[in-house]
Amino acid sequence: MKTTRFSISIEEELLKRFDRFIRRKRYKKRSKAVRDIIREKLAEEEWEKNEEVTGSLTLLYNHHIRGLSEEITDLQHHYNDVILATTHIHLDEENCLEVSLLRGSASKLQKLSDMLISKRGVKLGKLTICSTGKKLGSQ
Ligand code: NI
Repeated sequence: MKTTRFSISIEEELLKRFDRFIRRKRYKKRSKAVRDIIREKLAEEEWEKNEEVTGSLTLLYNHHIRGLSEEITDLQHHYNDVILATTHIHLDEENCLEVSLLRGSASKLQKLSDMLISKRGVKLGKLTICSTGKKLGSQ
């Protein structure tokens, strides 16, 4: 993909603060930091516009809650078209940690996540939004 350069006007203090921020975030180049922020915003918009996206859903749940494991499995079977893979870890006697990699329309991923996270016995659930990467450039 062709690369181009552009300049922007920004208050000195704001730029200094931004430079301190990107140093804390371990960026070596300002350009890379700006590109990443642009991509983050565009990826968020892919979700808002209900485009095809990717994401990961992390669930921490108590498998002693009656019927919960079966309910989770049933939903996962029903949504097999958007769940690419799931890894399950038995953390201890009570707790299960499960991560699913998802791909599909943003609304469907959000709906599936909401249905799982709101179940009794699910202690913590996090949906991390990502992108298919198709429209986010190459570097
Ligand atoms: Ni388990």
